[in-house]
Amino acid sequence: MTTVAATGWLLRSLEPDDASELARHLRLVAAEGWIGLEPEAITAAGQRQSLISMDPTRAAAVGLFTGTRLIAVAVAVRGSGPLAHTATVAVSVEPAHRRHHAARTLLQELEHWAVHQRVYKLCASVLGDNRAARALFTRCGYQQEGWRRAQLALNGGWQDEVLFGKLLTPPAGGTLE
Ligand SMILES: CC(C)(COP(=O)(O)OP(=O)(O)OC[C@H]1O[C@@H](n2cnc3c(N)ncnc32)[C@H](O)[C@@H]1OP(=O)(O)O)[C@@H](O)C(=O)NCCC(=O)NCCS
Repeated sequence: MTTVAATGWLLRSLEPDDASELARHLRLVAAEGWIGLEPEAITAAGQRQSLISMDPTRAAAVGLFTGTRLIAVAVAVRGSGPLAHTATVAVSVEPAHRRHHAARTLLQELEHWAVHQRVYKLCASVLGDNRAARALFTRCGYQQEGWRRAQLALNGGWQDEVLFGKLLTPPAGGTLE
């Protein structure tokens, strides 16, 4: 557990007991239409099950709290087989707390997890018209790797999907596998 100096936010991994807060947070952000989830499909029980079954070598979920309120979340899920050196990340921040580097802080935390787990590529998928997310990933050192037109049937239409990727540096003496 760490306190983020500038803001006083508490940074820590999510645990099963955070399920209700996580569901509340995700429902709030999902209502904006950027994360591809229907708010009514997000339940505390479902989030609890995901957190219980989370294997720390394969996935990470980190959050920022003000008191007991979960204001930002980021998750990484590792690929398997030939994708085992990669993980897909997603991040969300409550509207009232945006533009204070919450997302950047959480993405940095996921990079620490990734290198520790010998994951050397982080990938993200965002909607084409999600300017904030595109700016975020670019600012955090991800490169745009693809733009798939009309790829996702979401929000009552076909949406473009933009793919981002970031290669991480293995520790000195380490090798890519
Ligand atoms: C995208 C999102 C996660 C950004 O969260 P945030 O905490 O506001 O982002 P940060 O403050 O860490 O921003 C880091 C950098 O990203 C860029 N950025 C972030 N939001 C931006 C915006 N709305 N407009 C322009 N640039 C933006 C900036 O370069 C910013 O650095 P700066 O403020 O020093 O200029 C947030 O808007 C959000 O939750 N959106 C809905 C969910 C979503 O789209 N998730 C991404 C899909 S996985």
